[in-house]
Amino acid sequence: MNLFQRPRRNRKSPAIRAMARETVLTPEDLVYPLFLHEGSEEEAITSMPGCMRWSLDGLVREAGEAHALGIPAVILFPAIANELKSPKAGECANPEGLVPRAIRALKAAHPSLVVITDVALDPYNSDGQDGLVQRNEVGLLEILNDETVEVLCRQALCHAEAGADMVGPSDMMDGRVAAIRAALDGASHQDVSILSYSVKYASAYYGPFRGALDSAPKDGDKKTYQMDPGNLREAVRELLLDEEEGADMVMVKPAGPYLDVIAALRNETTLPVAAYQVSGEYLMIKSAAAAGWLEEEAVVMESLTGIKRAGADIILSYFARDVAQRLG
Ligand code: PBG
Repeated sequence: MNLFQRPRRNRKSPAIRAMARETVLTPEDLVYPLFLHEGSEEEAITSMPGCMRWSLDGLVREAGEAHALGIPAVILFPAIANELKSPKAGECANPEGLVPRAIRALKAAHPSLVVITDVALDPYNSDGQDGLVQRNEVGLLEILNDETVEVLCRQALCHAEAGADMVGPSDMMDGRVAAIRAALDGASHQDVSILSYSVKYASAYYGPFRGALDSAPKDGDKKTYQMDPGNLREAVRELLLDEEEGADMVMVKPAGPYLDVIAALRNETTLPVAAYQVSGEYLMIKSAAAAGWLEEEAVVMESLTGIKRAGADIILSYFARDVAQRLG
């Protein structure tokens, strides 16, 4: 054949492939989500094989090791004891609570590590919803948006006081980014950033996570605040609102099934775009690998490279530490 164009020339050796590669994953792209609990021992999480509920000491050690591998940031998810959960979720703003203590311990041990917190009520709420709940006259569940935003502001302030670098509202209430920004600024925390879960879908992929924290909704679902999986224009609407309200970074969640949404956000904003490879995405790879059906390392690298190629500047993944180790 007389071909002038032979794309395979750019794939002919590892060195040339490296020169032609468009998307390269680095440890600096990653955020490591960590679960913690009140216990003094680590506890394996049944719904997420390979993940732990860390004790405070274990958390500080694990975060330090991940940071030494080049991971810039961790995000914290507390498993709160049942007796501390309540309909008003007051424990979420307790300055002596699990999360503030963890923030202080992490920042004292690893000052350069970025500590991000999740701002939402579900770990603290006996109803298992991200917002405060009320039953209307006919017994239907209602999420109280504006009352919830007030509590979220107290939670974010509590995390900022403890030294969090960034707060991540994951609750999907309307107006919470502006309210949290104002609350932080009003308390002289201008330098605390907001990583907004701007585009969070009502996803079945969160199942294993709710097992890790025992935080599944007691009743109903989260569809009046989390987004409908069929929607893309609405994702842009949520992005633009969060941008106006003062978000520093925006997030899409889950990641793998929503690559078009990541690409759309990357196009529409100058802010950094994060994507969260969630517990169900993690578990699909883990379980297929455990059955001997997929090659874990290769599939993990490919899934994260795909998320970055779609436009994510930052990727939250339970594989973060493994990947940083491999890249190091
Ligand atoms: C709660 C929250 C959830 C996740 C992160 N923050 C669960 C939910 O909204 O039900 C899910 C993360 C994962 O599945 O890995 N606000």
